[in-house]
This record gives sequence, C-alpha cells and structure tokens, in this order.
Amino acid sequence: MEKTFLMIKPDGVGRGLIGEIVKRIENKGIKIVGAKLMTVSEELAKTHYGEHSEKPFFGELVDFITSGPVFAMVLEGENVVEIGRTLVGKTNPAESTPGTIRGDFGMTVGKNIIHGSDSVASAEKEIALWFKEEEILSYDLVT
Ligand code: CMP
Repeated sequence: MEKTFLMIKPDGVGRGLIGEIVKRIENKGIKIVGAKLMTVSEELAKTHYGEHSEKPFFGELVDFITSGPVFAMVLEGENVVEIGRTLVGKTNPAESTPGTIRGDFGMTVGKNIIHGSDSVASAEKEIALWFKEEEILSYDLVT
C-alpha cells in the first residue's frame, strides 16, 4: 500500500494546528501509521531540503524548520501521495485554494504550515530519512 510523509512545520505546531490537521487527515479516511512530535537537527533539515541547497532561501528554510518542534507523520492509503498533496494545497499561498491546509491557514511561501511529499519516490526517501522501521505500524481502520 502506498505511503506518504507529511510534516507539520514549526509555525503549524506553534499555532496549535496539530489537531485540526490530523482531523482533516482522519476525516478524509487516510490511515496514520506513524507520528511523532520532534525537533529537527540541522543535519536532518539540510538532508531533507537538499534539493534546495543552491536556492537563495535555503539558509532561511533550514533556520525555520529547526526553530521549533515539528509533527512528522507517515500516512498510508491508495494514491495517498497525491491525495496528501491535495489536502496540503499549493506551496504559493496565492494559489493554495480555500479548503486546503495551506489555503486555509498559510499566508507566506516560507511559513506554509506543512510539508507533503511530492512523489512516490520522494515519499519513500523522506519516510526512510525521518522514521525508523519500527516506528511505522500496521493495523486496520474500523470501517
Ligand atoms: P515544502 O513543501 O516544505 O518544500 C520546500 C519548501 O521551500 C517549501 O515548502 C517552502 O516552504 C519553501 N520555499 C519555497 N520557495 C520559497 C521562497 N521563495 N522563500 C522561502 N521559502 C521558500
């Protein structure tokens, strides 16, 4: 079954949005198979955002993601990478439509509440980077 990685960023945690976001995920019918509140080391931040290392905002991005706790999750379900991206909304706040997490709560491209894997390949990479195998559980949702 497909899995994806979502991470509520320090602004989302700091604004008390964990419950609201988890509620949206569960209401959609997505199964949460891993979750943890954690701080992010500079090393983890730089690896996670490695593809942006040459961008002018890289330093700002690393400083921000290490500035406070994040809530990292592994979600499981059919087509969950794309569904997760749809729930999250577009990176640019001007394009993230109301009803999406960023569309409802985010105003800036940097502090945009949440990260979601953008492909099956990056989901696999990000889950392996952020979670140990034993932190990902297998169980059935009651339907
Ligand atoms: P995320 O989905 O976590 O992946 C890369 C992040 O880079 C993105 O969300 C934004 O938060 C951040 N980002 C993209 N463009 C900019 C920018 N111009 N300035 C600051 N941060 C940015």
